[in-house]
Amino acid sequence: MARLLLENVTKIYDRDIYAARNVSFTVKPKEFTVLVGPSGCGKTTTLRLIAGLEELTSGKIYIDDKLVNEMSPRDRDVAMVFQNYALYPHMNVYDNMAFGLRMRKHPKEEIKHRVVGTAEILSIEDLLHRKPRQLSGGQRQRVALGRSIVRNPKIFLFDEPLSNLDAKLRVQMRAELARLHKKLQATIVYVTHDQVEAMTLGQKIVVLKDGEVQQVADPITLYKKPINKFVAGFMGSPPMNFIKGKIKKVNKNVGFHSVGLTLQLNNNYNKFSNRSVIIGIRPTDFSTTRGSQIEITIDVIEPMGNELFVHGRCGDIMISARVPEDTSPRVGKPFFLKINPDRMYIFDEKTEKALK
Ligand SMILES: Nc1ncnc2c1ncn2[C@@H]1O[C@H](COP(=O)(O)OP(=O)(O)OP(=O)(O)O)[C@@H](O)[C@H]1O
Ligand SMILES: [Mg+2]
Repeated sequence: MARLLLENVTKIYDRDIYAARNVSFTVKPKEFTVLVGPSGCGKTTTLRLIAGLEELTSGKIYIDDKLVNEMSPRDRDVAMVFQNYALYPHMNVYDNMAFGLRMRKHPKEEIKHRVVGTAEILSIEDLLHRKPRQLSGGQRQRVALGRSIVRNPKIFLFDEPLSNLDAKLRVQMRAELARLHKKLQATIVYVTHDQVEAMTLGQKIVVLKDGEVQQVADPITLYKKPINKFVAGFMGSPPMNFIKGKIKKVNKNVGFHSVGLTLQLNNNYNKFSNRSVIIGIRPTDFSTTRGSQIEITIDVIEPMGNELFVHGRCGDIMISARVPEDTSPRVGKPFFLKINPDRMYIFDEKTEKALK
């Protein structure tokens, strides 16, 4: 399986639209890499550039140490699975899966062997004679995957392949994809705007915003050490709480001061004195023990079964927090939350970069 390298890949569509700007990352052989970011950040463009369906404005793409900038899509030996499946409606499942191999003039017996083998892996061997319209969304999805698997490409490119499925089927297909990756030992670049999908599937995650790479890391590093406010807010659900304010030292005590909120901090924060910052707190990092530091008024309570999410306000500051069920929060009533300064994130207000 192949290695992929993008070096300062830039794509400008007309009128100075930077769909990708100096995008650089590597994908190791057999690695499951996820490109994640909000709508319009350049995910599909990046995949299309790798596939050769789009011409680069500048930069270099290597597959297995070979520069492929000028290489035709066909010769790159990559398979792309599109968001809308793009199955041929008039062909049955078998013919849909065999199509690419026939085009490449593989022998009939070999085609049969590969299609049937792949159908077994995907549990669609009973559907080979059906037309796409006679299939459910999940089954169509599997056929689309099957069509790329039979080709045994160097690299798989997946563009939001699960977005047309309902929530439950998506979770199921996600697990199947993870299993499939293990079985095939394939190099995969997978695009999604769903951070949960990115976290659960990716061995490596590339976070994109406005065509630019924000951070490349494994899921845990992204979650625990986000490089900036954007990454911190993008990974995690419900998203991280952000509060603007200033770090000040008053009579030897370091504190975070915001409108209507003051937090005592330990002396480690001394180095940020007089700095305008944004602090970040994950909803899962509050506690409700004594010595509480924030009083919020609760607007909404979301019961999740064994725990609750509460959404409230401290003055103008919106706060979401996970709290134990037995704390009995009430809508419209005050509620006390404690912040653990060790779990707090801190960003420069202007650059939004994480401060260490
Ligand atoms: N053919 C095109 N011509 C001009 N601009 C384009 C073209 N294709 C995409 N763009 C622009 O490039 C940017 C990136 O688009 P892209 O389709 O790569 O985003 P995306 O991350 O895949 O978004 P989504 O999650 O909505 O699919 C967007 O601003 C988009 O409007
Ligand atoms: Mg897209």
